[in-house]
Parts: sequence; structure tokens; C-alpha cells
Amino acid sequence: MTAMPEPVRAGSEELVLAFLAEAGDDYVSGEAISDKLGLSRAAVWKHVRALRAQGYRIEAAPARGYRLREIPDRLGELELRPLLNTHDVGQTLHWYEEVGSTNDVAKGLAEEGALHGEVVVAERQTAGRGRRGRSWSSPARRNVYLSAVLRPDLPPARAPELTLLASVAVCQAVRQAGVAAAGIKWPNDVLASGRKLAGVLTEMAAEVERVQWVVIGIGVNVNAAAADFPEELRGVATSLLLERGAPVPRALFAAAVLTALEEWLDRHADEGFGPVRAAWREMSDTLGREVRIRGGAAELTGVAEDIDEAGALLVRTATGLERVVAGDVELLRPA
Ligand code: BTN
Repeated sequence: MTAMPEPVRAGSEELVLAFLAEAGDDYVSGEAISDKLGLSRAAVWKHVRALRAQGYRIEAAPARGYRLREIPDRLGELELRPLLNTHDVGQTLHWYEEVGSTNDVAKGLAEEGALHGEVVVAERQTAGRGRRGRSWSSPARRNVYLSAVLRPDLPPARAPELTLLASVAVCQAVRQAGVAAAGIKWPNDVLASGRKLAGVLTEMAAEVERVQWVVIGIGVNVNAAAADFPEELRGVATSLLLERGAPVPRALFAAAVLTALEEWLDRHADEGFGPVRAAWREMSDTLGREVRIRGGAAELTGVAEDIDEAGALLVRTATGLERVVAGDVELLRPA
């Protein structure tokens, strides 16, 4: 008689992995795993083989059991979920090896009813987009490319606050990752050594009084080496690797960004824009600098004095104080 194949329970692969991860450098016996998870020894072995096929290096030693030695450099659910310290953001993850743009995928999901906090993450983008119609260099498995669907209870006029909020969350995660001198160029570029490390692309759909959804797209150059950037970006872009001189585990970093994003969203929902504005000012690379603004209503030059309660940049020019709501900022020199 042929044995019936054992049904594979949903999620048991994740449980085997979590069990191995929890044991750290120690071996766990196949028996302990099967007892604890209620699986047959054959099923445990099947999951170990499936995990190996996905790039997990799992050692097996007679009489000792299994030991997890290496996890693959991926941002999938298996790698990211256990690191997330959130209630909504990233709890539903849509992972892709390759997409055109995670923002486009997230917008499609939002239109189909995706919930607040659903996140799209990709290892590579073939049509990564930046602000103002620019492209975003997105080489495979070097960096972090993700987009979060948000459903904030906000009037459309307040949506720009979320863009500044996202840059605060990213800058915080970048500083925690060891680039203490990172700062924000208005409205939401994260810079280090005067070069661009990360960007935020916010898109939304709204009714007259209420935002329907906002998609916050975040791109961070994590482990890109100079050669990974197109030649025209080499003088103006940087990465965590180039700034620290050592690579950063991408899953840990992505989890830190999503966790910081949720913390700031919660704070914004409870206390409004005030705390975000204060943090943005503290992290700013722009305030107090002489700046040139292009691409907005008019070109102007002056000293960036502050951001107002709506996140607009206030620039002191030769003719008075200008309120800038859109445009590209060029940092000229310290005032
Ligand atoms: C900018 O600074 O111009 C914004 C860059 C935003 C890039 C990210 S990468 C993930 C998400 N998907 C996109 O196509 N763009 C954003």
C-alpha cells in the first residue's frame, strides 16, 4: 500500500523556520520540532528541504538535529515579518522579485480595497519612479524599494504632512543604521555627505473632504556600491554601504523603516503635525541654508527659514518671505 502524502499545513514552513531561528547557534532535534509543531518527522524534513531551496542554509547533524546558519538576502514575508514590530504597517506584505514600480502595484491594490498598512516590496524595479517624473535606480537585491497603502482620516489638504512624516521615519532609521549625519532636504530627500541616500514618492486619491488612500513609496540605497548606480548618479547619490563602509542587512533595515513609519503615523493621528514638524526641523539639512527653488510656481533664491504648520518651506528672499509648496531645492551654502 502506498502511503498517503501528508497534507502540508499552511504556515508550518514559517513555524519550522521560526523554531530554528529562535535556537540561534544551537542545534534543535527533529524530534523536538515535530513534537512542538505537531508534524511528522518526514514533514519537518520536507520543510527543511523547501527552506534550503529558498536559500536558507540549514545544517543537519546526526543525533543533534538542525541548525540555521544563514538566511537569504531577501525581503520576503519569511525574512521580514518576524522582524516587524507593528500592528498594521507591513502585517500584510506583497513581495515581488521584480515589478515595474511598487507604487503602481500599491495603487492598484488600494483601488481594489487594500487595507491600511498593506505593503508592497520588491527586490528590483524595472520602472522605479521618483518625484517630478524622474526615474529611480533600482538594481536587484541591493536596496530597499517599498510602498505602503495608508488610509488616514485626513482632508486632502493635509496629505503633504504624510510626505514629511515618511522622510522623518526614513531619516530616523538611517541614523539608527549608523549614518548619524543623515539629514532631510525639503520636502523629503534623505541626504548624507551632501548626496542622496533615500527618497519618498507620495501619491493619493481623494474625495473633496477626505483622503481615500495614500501610497507612500520609499526607496533607500542600502547596499549599492558606486558601480551599481548609473554613471550620471555617481556624483550625487550615496548608500548606507558607502557611508558606513559596511553592508547593512536589508530585512533588518526595511523592518526598521516600517516600524518607524507606523510609530510616526500613530503619533500624527494622536497629536497632529506638531511633533512631526519638530522632528523634521531637527533632522533638516535645509533650514538656515541659502537655497535655490526651481520647478515650482516661480524660481527664487533666498535663505530657508522654516517650515510652516502645513509643511510648506518658508524662504526669506530679497523681496520678502515666500511660501513654497512645490519645487526642487538646491542647497547653495550655509547662510
Ligand atoms: C524621489 O526622491 O524622487 C522619490 C523616490 C521614490 C522611490 C521609491 S522606490 C519604491 C517606490 N516605487 C517607485 O517607483 N518609487 C518609490
